[in-house]
Amino acid sequence: RKSAPMPDDIRAMKGGTPIVSLTAYTTPMAELMDAHCDFVLVGDSVGMVLHGLPSTLGVTMEMMILHGQAVARGLKTAMMVVDMPFGSYEESPAQAFGNAARLMAETGAGAVKLEGGVAMAETIRFLVNRGVPVMAHIGLTPQSINTLGGYKVQGRDDGAEQVLADARAVAEAGAFAVVLEKLPASLSDRVTAEIPIPTIGIGASAGCDGQILVHYDMLGLFTRFKPKFVKRYAHLGEDAEKAIAAYADEVRTRAFPAEEHIFADTAPAKGKAK
Ligand code: KIV
Ligand code: NA
Repeated sequence: RKSAPMPDDIRAMKGGTPIVSLTAYTTPMAELMDAHCDFVLVGDSVGMVLHGLPSTLGVTMEMMILHGQAVARGLKTAMMVVDMPFGSYEESPAQAFGNAARLMAETGAGAVKLEGGVAMAETIRFLVNRGVPVMAHIGLTPQSINTLGGYKVQGRDDGAEQVLADARAVAEAGAFAVVLEKLPASLSDRVTAEIPIPTIGIGASAGCDGQILVHYDMLGLFTRFKPKFVKRYAHLGEDAEKAIAAYADEVRTRAFPAEEHIFADTAPAKGKAK
């Protein structure tokens, strides 16, 4: 593909080859993902992953804008979606529009994502009708951790009907896709079969229309804990720690810097190294 897909192109991938997505927070990581992902999400998980916050509740508009701008510089062919942070959209559709417009204008994002189902349907419709493509996020919604009472699996037993209602509501309101987080696989498959927009699973099922993971989790860079739904495709955190330990050792034994890292009194002859 030559240019980034639009939200309608993502919507049209319903039922086809699964949609590939990852979170990104920085330019270099976005550059690595660009050719491999259909869309990249600047997730508010950035607060926990990069800033050491205990949850996503403390993430601000300013953080999302700064990281959104960084990610945008690294993307050519993947679409960028930016998370609306806690407190920036729940109060009213008008509040949501003001902040969504600011995120799009200041980062160049093609869409925003917000958490909530039935309760956010009116806001989603308001945004979509005014030019803001919305990706919804239902099931486990981390910004509601204090009312959900923990990061547990959602939609089990009598919770399934609420999840189905949420999925239908966001689709009817005009969301172009919906993230399903931490739901039983059979319920994820049922939601995917019932609604006309793509489902993007994280802790959901292989039957979803796409998948997303937090790149720090799948690269083994975030190791404070590992959710069951995470697969570590690399162990970059371990590699980084080994490299840092080796550097510390070489500095203390004066093995670094070596001959090739230092400068002579006179410049080398023209045409040679700098
Ligand atoms: O913030 C985030 O990283 C997310 C994804 C896990 C869907 O919302
Ligand atoms: Na998020």
